[in-house]
Amino acid sequence: MLHRTLPGFIEVICGSMFSGKTEELLRRVKRAQIARQKVQVFKPVIDNRYSVDHVQSHDANRVASKPVEKARDILRFVDDNTRVVGIDEAQFFDEAVVEVAQKLAYRGARVIVAGLDLDFRGQPFGPMPKLLAVAEDVTKLQAVCVVCGNPASRTQKIAGPTGPDAGRIVVGAKDLYEARCRFCHEPDISSQAGGSGQSQDCPT
Ligand code: ADP
Ligand code: TMP
Ligand code: MG
Ligand code: ZN
Repeated sequence: MLHRTLPGFIEVICGSMFSGKTEELLRRVKRAQIARQKVQVFKPVIDNRYSVDHVQSHDANRVASKPVEKARDILRFVDDNTRVVGIDEAQFFDEAVVEVAQKLAYRGARVIVAGLDLDFRGQPFGPMPKLLAVAEDVTKLQAVCVVCGNPASRTQKIAGPTGPDAGRIVVGAKDLYEARCRFCHEPDISSQAGGSGQSQDCPT
């Protein structure tokens, strides 16, 4: 069993793309490693943007990670003496990731989960709402809106389909997405000529 004598808990780091979720996860993981705590990091196998076996930020900071197909696989791979479990791109996991995080926390692990709170339409993404609800600690980060420069809480899809039938999951980075504030965000650019620009009157 994981160090039963220590209290376990769940931390969630959420926000738009480019808000620094992965950087913050890496910062916490590195500090745990400095404290000589055993850390294991997982990510869904679908996230192959920069590397298959590393969690990597948009600024190329990275740490070794294990890609897993399903959330429940994490339980199979976590070692008994692991103190800290990091999970990146949690929005891509099935709902079972909530139960997995809870089990690990009850077993005494510190579970650090990072993921998108909203999809490109501005809708809550996958298991993230439930993870946010059960977490002891929540950090919500903002990027910089590329249109107006204000803090950005949303992710704009700038290429590929965005209409009602567009799939929710498309792995990508600046080729497909950019950070925008609430007022510059356009959930569906497919029906508009030109595509980009402000959808609402930005109050600044
Ligand atoms: P996330 O995992 O939330 O997508 P990362 O931690 O991978 O974010 O990357 C954050 C980094 O992205 C920032 O430190 C910055 O260098 C870079 N970046 C690129 N575009 C933006 C933006 N619009 N706003 C803020 N940071 C940005
Ligand atoms: P990031 O938050 O670490 O930048 O990674 C987010 C990943 O999620 C990236 O591969 C793009 C993907 N994504 C979707 O699949 N659907 C979406 O609606 C959004 C906003 C991002
Ligand atoms: Mg990231
Ligand atoms: Zn804006």
